[in-house]
Amino acid sequence: MPVEIAPSILTADFANLERELGRIASADWVHLDVMDGHFVPNLSIGLPVIRRLAAISPLPTDVHLMIDNPDAFAPGYAGAGVDSVTFHLEAARAPVRLARAIRGEGARAAVAINPATPVAALENLLEEVDMILIMSVEPGFGGQSFIERSLAKLAQAKALIADRPIRLQIDGGADRRTIGRIARAGADLIVAGSAVFGAEDPAAEIRALREAAR
Ligand code: DX5
Ligand code: ZN
Repeated sequence: MPVEIAPSILTADFANLERELGRIASADWVHLDVMDGHFVPNLSIGLPVIRRLAAISPLPTDVHLMIDNPDAFAPGYAGAGVDSVTFHLEAARAPVRLARAIRGEGARAAVAINPATPVAALENLLEEVDMILIMSVEPGFGGQSFIERSLAKLAQAKALIADRPIRLQIDGGADRRTIGRIARAGADLIVAGSAVFGAEDPAAEIRALREAAR
């Protein structure tokens, strides 16, 4: 199956988000980065904006919560009409209960791990999640360079998932240069922020990324 492309709006024009969604209509998902200034040293958008984007987005919505205390906040995002909600394992107090609460709100549940968190930490969550996100940069900012070690983690995660119906996502530093190796390592869903929104023609860039991933 070809990889799916999820442009991150972090590098988009925040004053024109509806128009920006129109420029990536050929993508498979839109990736919505929520940052709280605590879990990561940056602040982005929150629930009221996510709720509106979910209502108007022609693409399925993939919310990436880079926040402390997802146990308290993630179910609210899951109930806001989005398709998938990702929380960070490093921030969750009760990840099993949290994944079940997200699914209970009708969204897909996903768990993310930072570059220094081992893949083995996901072992006891496999029955609870629909997607695993391997961070290939330290979360917080767009435009950082890809951490090569993430390729080995993708392969480990692929083996851990085995034949379970769990998608494997990667986020950070994906571009024309890295996406071939990322796809070969087993990613199903690839987030690309600056590569897509930094391009003159995002639709052409999405085509080029698909081509380079093949
Ligand atoms: C990083 C965010 C990413 C980011 C990706 O903390 O979670 O989604 O926007 O941006 P690029 O593709 O520029 O690394
Ligand atoms: Zn992200």
